[in-house]
Amino acid sequence: MSPKKRLLVTMALPYANGDIHLGHLLEAVQTDIFVRFQKLCGNEAVYVCADDTHGTPIELSALRQNITPETLIARAYESHKRDYAGFNIGFDIFYTTNSPENRRYAELIYENLRKDGLIIEKEIDQYYCDHDKRFLPDRFITGTCPKCKAEKQYGDVCESCGATYDPTDLIEPACIICGNTPQLRRSAHFYVELAKCEDFLRDYIGREGTLQDDMRNFVTTWINEGLREWCISRDGPYFGFTIPGTTDKYFYVWLDAPIGYISSTDKWCADNGRSTDEFWAKDAAAEVVHFIGKDIVYFHTLFWPVMLRSSSINLPSRFFIHGFVTVQGEKMSKTRGTFILARDFLEKIRHPQASEFLRFYYGSKLMPNSGDLDFSKDEFISRVNTTLANNIGNLHHRTMVFCDRSFEGKVPDAPWDETIAAEVAKNGPEIAAHFDRGEFKLAVEKIHALGNLGNKYYQDSKPWELIKTAPEAAGTVMVTCVNLMKALAVFLTPIVPVLASRIEAKLGTPLTWDDYRFSLRGAPLGVTEKLVQPLEAADLEPVFGGGKNDPETPPVPEEQLIDIDTFGNVQLKVAMVVAAEAIPKSKKLLKLQVELGSEKRQIVAGLAAHYTPESMVGKQVVIVANLKPAKLFGETSQGMVLAAKNADGSLVIVSPERPVDGGAGVA
Ligand code: 2FM
Ligand code: ZN
Repeated sequence: MSPKKRLLVTMALPYANGDIHLGHLLEAVQTDIFVRFQKLCGNEAVYVCADDTHGTPIELSALRQNITPETLIARAYESHKRDYAGFNIGFDIFYTTNSPENRRYAELIYENLRKDGLIIEKEIDQYYCDHDKRFLPDRFITGTCPKCKAEKQYGDVCESCGATYDPTDLIEPACIICGNTPQLRRSAHFYVELAKCEDFLRDYIGREGTLQDDMRNFVTTWINEGLREWCISRDGPYFGFTIPGTTDKYFYVWLDAPIGYISSTDKWCADNGRSTDEFWAKDAAAEVVHFIGKDIVYFHTLFWPVMLRSSSINLPSRFFIHGFVTVQGEKMSKTRGTFILARDFLEKIRHPQASEFLRFYYGSKLMPNSGDLDFSKDEFISRVNTTLANNIGNLHHRTMVFCDRSFEGKVPDAPWDETIAAEVAKNGPEIAAHFDRGEFKLAVEKIHALGNLGNKYYQDSKPWELIKTAPEAAGTVMVTCVNLMKALAVFLTPIVPVLASRIEAKLGTPLTWDDYRFSLRGAPLGVTEKLVQPLEAADLEPVFGGGKNDPETPPVPEEQLIDIDTFGNVQLKVAMVVAAEAIPKSKKLLKLQVELGSEKRQIVAGLAAHYTPESMVGKQVVIVANLKPAKLFGETSQGMVLAAKNADGSLVIVSPERPVDGGAGVA
């Protein structure tokens, strides 16, 4: 059977320099629900994603870790793939933008932009940090947004108002590495003249169905304000692709990142005997659908179509634009303990169905708009238990157990209730339309209502009494409930595929979308197992804390946060204690002789109440090696020994977990 529709579906490519968190998962789940729905309907939907691997943050982060950018992105790749797999995100391909395919497409698109006369070269004044001896790319300058005056914004885009600008537009710019005010220097750069494409862009974003209503006005306003030239080059050092015809200029990461959608499709096609043109040629009979966050709309709706048009590539026909995830009503924050990583969610939450529950929670709240979505612990528990455990799970259990006991583990061979069958038949196309339009919340509401209908029907019909007096009528009740469960399994498949597949296994028949219609009679049923274990507050404690919305450790006030460079000023080293003695007249202090490799030092430490001198000898300890020497009770101390303090005030020294070289640095 040839597919009814062909779709190429993408979510935004996650940066390779960070872990996957609840925000990434919202988009991954939203896209996955859409793709699974399309596949269930018999459409061809190819779900493409990749790591976004280029740019200065990655180059610098690798530098700091003393590894190559290639090693850094290879590590991220493995960890990202594993995290997404934990939430059953069914990519057809998860690739990388640091690929030969991506270089080829980036060069092609650049050459075609040139041929169309859309690229100009200009010498510009660019910020250069005299202290760090480098040009500062946009992400390495902070300052005040020239539009909305929000402070601490990067040099390319304001996270507060969404405006994009040049770093030189920032008010009070500062180097992010050292905090100094950078100087301007001349450097040549390449620009795309977007203004030449204004008519095309107006027409494009005005096309019916391309943009959500809540976004069209937004984007139109940007166009009305005037389309500025877009700088697509960066000076080295930069981790990315060299611009053809230059030796020291690189494509800005935002040029080659979206091209990753095409190059990853290209790789998938090569691996599967298909042609990229089937999806990306201008006249391809395929819909390109992008799921993105509201923070990257400018890049996708203004820069991206212009890049595609010059190369006669298929333009995206639909954008689903979501908002940010908040946790307990606030922006996710590392200091408040609400920056929840996918890995912690998977590894620390004690419930085996937790990842499916998150899919359900997101699904039950998602609509095609850019409003923020709050993750609330209490609401999470309540939504999961109300719909999945107490409604769907309950109907499944009572239906299947009844069939096992009273109908020999078979679907009764009896006529079903036509009213219920008609209600399901009416809901099927409506729920399908909700899925196709990204209205998952409405789909879940209908699924919940059908579950309620089933439970009420079972309860009102009293099959446990009918089985004694009118077994034929009891058969009608149960065949109706089994077929209703089948419909619910179909409707739930895109959202909670594992849970749905367990109903499918029980029914013993693979399900596609059209199977929501009543059809089963007389068929044998498989083993009954409990579909849903209710979620309890204690299950979530390791990640979300015990109290109502409380993180486990008190937050660190913003003003007490330090940057990595400040931390780097403290030299921590491992030292071996070779001799120790008490200091007469002091109850608190021990005099330690330590060795850091060949270097010898004396340190006076406040450990006498916690360690005897003898017990200290032979221990490796961690010391602050660059403290100014001090005199204590007439003894010189050249450093400080690190120790952890228990709530009762007792001290425990910090030691390496295994013996290490004397003088080894601690970072
Ligand atoms: O904002 C981000 O996380 C980017 N890495 C998204 C890139 S999407 C696409 F253009 F590649
Ligand atoms: Zn600097």
